[in-house]
Amino acid sequence: MARYQFQVVYFEATRRCNLRCPFCMTGSNDARTVRESFRNELTLQEIRDRILLPARRLNVHTIGWSGGEFLMRRDALELLRLTVDLGFRCSVLSNCKKLTRERLEAIRDATRGHARIVVGLNAVDEENRWSRDSESDRTLRVLKDCLELGIGQHVVVTIGKYNTESFEKTVEFIVKHNIAYNRSPLVPRGSGSRCFGEMGFDRSDLERHFHPALRRNPHGYVSYTPFFLSPELHAQVSGGARNNTVPQNPAIGCWAGTWLTVNAEGEVSVCPVLLDVLSAGNVRDRPIDELVEASALFADITDRSRLKGRCGRCRYQYTCGGCRAMAFFHNGDYMGEDPTCFFDPLERSTVSEHEEETNRVFKKYLLVARAAGVYQPPKSSRSPEPPPPEPAKT
Ligand SMILES: C[S@@+](CC[C@H](N)C(=O)[O-])C[C@H]1O[C@@H](n2cnc3c(N)ncnc32)[C@H](O)[C@@H]1O
Ligand code: SF4
Ligand code: SF4
Repeated sequence: MARYQFQVVYFEATRRCNLRCPFCMTGSNDARTVRESFRNELTLQEIRDRILLPARRLNVHTIGWSGGEFLMRRDALELLRLTVDLGFRCSVLSNCKKLTRERLEAIRDATRGHARIVVGLNAVDEENRWSRDSESDRTLRVLKDCLELGIGQHVVVTIGKYNTESFEKTVEFIVKHNIAYNRSPLVPRGSGSRCFGEMGFDRSDLERHFHPALRRNPHGYVSYTPFFLSPELHAQVSGGARNNTVPQNPAIGCWAGTWLTVNAEGEVSVCPVLLDVLSAGNVRDRPIDELVEASALFADITDRSRLKGRCGRCRYQYTCGGCRAMAFFHNGDYMGEDPTCFFDPLERSTVSEHEEETNRVFKKYLLVARAAGVYQPPKSSRSPEPPPPEPAKT
């Protein structure tokens, strides 16, 4: 039995792209970065042998194909076919430029219906253009085509100061159309470093704009940080399932420690936004399961008892964990407190005013999670529920 289990591999299979978003975290808007990466991209055989086959030993159920623009790879459909043949489900993250109806049908057929399309949409109107090299209309057209073709959809909204005001309108629109979404923070990875200082959100933006909008518009995956879920409730519904100390079944709070991420050249990290800046090693040196097993980075990130500052003395230390990327990019310590959080726990017993609401939404989410295959109620309601481990002294 492997020491760790992860649900998803997010893989940026190329840095090539047919758009030029100004703050692209993979540097896909920079010709030199793309040229150098292309010479060094993992081949189909390396992907199969060093990522996909070993991922089966880590209990992974979904491969998220990303880029750059994944569909720029000539072997994209072959990779999707292989993924499904190996027993995984697929997500295809795309900027939509190549996603004609015919292409969508080809993806559906290659994956025998086991794929969903994930699109980035930072605003539903012309504001989208500010951060994405794309009209929102094109993305909305693809979402509609997916619906008509019976293909699952998901939207990622990257948040920063540019969409504090429009964010709620965007997520209301997404939820009204019954589409699952998540928010992801703008980071200074790749070309993101050009604007992070000016456009990265802060504690006040989160408290006044993003968090209230997320609370009012839960849909699909409900987890974000800060996430004020009662640790007792999670332990009860999950049967105490954890990846070391990171809650599983369902995964909740910061995603670091619940998935594996790989860049185009084979470097592995704990979160997509931390690729290129924090590496656990390269799959060319050893297969991903062995690499993770030996990694000090994964040992740290899957042990929330090592969190520091406010996150280390918080009631939600395990069910939230604080955004590890925000801790790293603001203060250079990926185990430090999340400086964008607006909760100031005096001690471990301090309860957030939002806990009750979070628990309510979480209970509803369990139904969705169960239907999506990412949650299994514990076999016996009397199964032991170990309490979260004691935190380390900070
Ligand atoms: C790198 S893209 C790759 C997939 C596809 N080309 C797309 O744009 O959706 C994946 C996601 O990262 C987001 N992203 C791009 N630059 C970012 C940055 N500097 N910080 C955070 N997210 C970023 C995009 O908006 C998109 O939702
Ligand atoms: S964010 Fe996506 S679409 Fe935009 S340049 Fe980067 S990889 Fe291409
Ligand atoms: S202090 Fe840290 S763990 Fe607690 S709610 Fe805020 S981000 Fe989450």
